[in-house]
Amino acid sequence: MKVVVLTGAGISAESGVPTFRDADGLWEGHRVEDVATPEAYEAAPSVVQAFYDARRAALSAVDPNPAHDALARLGEVLGDDLLLVTQNIDDLHERAGSPSVLHMHGELLAAWCTACGRRVRWAGALGDQPPCPGCAAPALRPDVVWFGEVPYEMDRIVDALVEADLFVSVGTSGAVYPAAGFVQQARAYGARTLELNLQPSEGSRWFHESRQGPAGLLVPEWVASLVG
Ligand code: APR
Repeated sequence: MKVVVLTGAGISAESGVPTFRDADGLWEGHRVEDVATPEAYEAAPSVVQAFYDARRAALSAVDPNPAHDALARLGEVLGDDLLLVTQNIDDLHERAGSPSVLHMHGELLAAWCTACGRRVRWAGALGDQPPCPGCAAPALRPDVVWFGEVPYEMDRIVDALVEADLFVSVGTSGAVYPAAGFVQQARAYGARTLELNLQPSEGSRWFHESRQGPAGLLVPEWVASLVG
C-alpha cells in the first residue's frame, strides 16, 4: 500500500513548538508579511534573521513526541511506500528516526547563499551575516520557503499523490496552498483520505474521514491500526 503523510505545525505542538494560527501562535506577535516574505527580507533582513535565529535556537530545547515516533516506525515498516511530507521546518521527524523526510517549506537547520546559490547545513545564528562557506559573501538566508516562493520538490509530491492509496494529513490548518490542496489531488486520483487534527480545519470537508484529538494520541493509534 502506498501512503502519503502530510504533517503541519500541529504535530510538533505537543513537543512545545508553537503553531502559527492557534492562539499564542507564532504569527500572533508578527505580521506574516513582516517576517515570511522575500520583500520583508529585502526591506529588513535583521528582523527576519532574528525571527528565524530565535526559532533555530529554540530547537535544542524540544524533543520529538509520540506522533513523530509513530511516523518513524511507519517509515521503517513501509520503506519507499511511504512519502512523509512536512510543512514544518523543525527537525523533529529526523530526530525521531524517520528514514526520509521531504521538507516542502525548507529547514531551519539549513541556509542558502543569495550570492552564489550554495545550500549549507547551518546550526548557528545568521543574524550577524556570516560569510558563505562557498563564496565568502555575507549573503546567507534561512533555507525556508516564504510566502510567494515555490515549495520544494513539488514534482515528487504530486507523483506520490497520484499513486497513493492513502493520504493522511496531521496537524495542519489547511490554510496554506499548495499543501492544503493535496487532499483534493490525492482523492481525485483514487486515494482514501484521513485527517488527524486537534479540531476541524479549513480542509476537513475534503477528507473521507476526519478524527479530532491530539496528534500524540491519534497518530500512534492510527499507525498501530495500519501496521500493528
Ligand atoms: N495535535 C493535532 N493538531 C494540533 C495540535 C495537536 N496537539 N495542536 C494544534 N493542532 C492543529 C491546530 O488545530 C491547527 O489546525 O494544528 C493546526 C496548525 O495549523 P497552523 O498553525 O496553520 O500550521 P500549518 O498548517 O502547519 O501552517 C502551514 O503556514 O505559516 C505557514 O509556512 C508556514 O508551514 C506553515 C504553513
